[in-house]
Amino acid sequence: MKVLQVKHLQKVFFPGTDNERHVLKNINLQVDEGDFISVIGNNGAGKSTLLNTIAGTLHADAGEIDLASHNVSKKSIAYRSRWMSRVFQDPKMGTAGDLTVMQNLVLAQSHTNTINLKWYQRKGDVEEYQELLKTLNMGLENFMDTQVKYLSGGQRQALSLLMATLSKPKLLLLDEHTAALDPKTSQEVMKITNEMVQREHLTTMMITHKMSDALKYGNRLVMVQDGQIKLDVRGAEKESLDTAQLLQAFE
Ligand SMILES: Nc1ncnc2c1ncn2[C@@H]1O[C@H](COP(=O)(O)OP(=O)(O)O)[C@@H](O)[C@H]1O
Ligand SMILES: [Mg+2]
Repeated sequence: MKVLQVKHLQKVFFPGTDNERHVLKNINLQVDEGDFISVIGNNGAGKSTLLNTIAGTLHADAGEIDLASHNVSKKSIAYRSRWMSRVFQDPKMGTAGDLTVMQNLVLAQSHTNTINLKWYQRKGDVEEYQELLKTLNMGLENFMDTQVKYLSGGQRQALSLLMATLSKPKLLLLDEHTAALDPKTSQEVMKITNEMVQREHLTTMMITHKMSDALKYGNRLVMVQDGQIKLDVRGAEKESLDTAQLLQAFE
């Protein structure tokens, strides 16, 4: 079953000016349920613009986006977030620094801004969240009442991931979500990501600048180049790819 269908997607920045730039050029992409896609490509290739257009942060100039069988092309981010979650590069983006770990989780699950943050104090809820936090292996279960701004970047990004997946999204979008972390933490968060995707069977598009991660993780690899999809391989074909072949495709 398909979760996402992108048809003839185009995005032009500064149209009609000297700076006119065609950043997405007729992108066609189908994402099937259970796909874990690594998205790679040079800086400025259009990867983030593609994700932003899917998420609704940007509206496409032409083309169609179907999410969970709904045409969302003209819909808001809020509407699309019924089926979709995101984690960004900046660990601060996915969490509210002044709220505690627990409050962030409650907020993520509630999907509304008008929640009473006190209700979580029911014992069962606390234990349930504690169990979830344990799965991250970052010791976060011991910091339930700590404001998130005091956590490390890695802890915060792991929490962002948990929050993004609490509502069991049909589609998870990750935009270089480990790029701001030190190499060791980046690998830890990548491992957590993979475990979470496998455990929850999350359909995922993950932009990464690390070719080794793109090769190691996911069942599918998409390369974006100059606003077009240059390469789209899956399964055994992806397994057989190596860094040298990928580098060659970058030319
Ligand atoms: N909001 C925007 N307004 C104008 N230009 C943009 C905007 N977002 C991205 N661009 C431009 O579009 C091109 C592709 O950017 P981006 O999608 O961020 O690339 P990538 O994520 O692959 O590095 C770049 O030249 C960038 O400067
Ligand atoms: Mg980008």
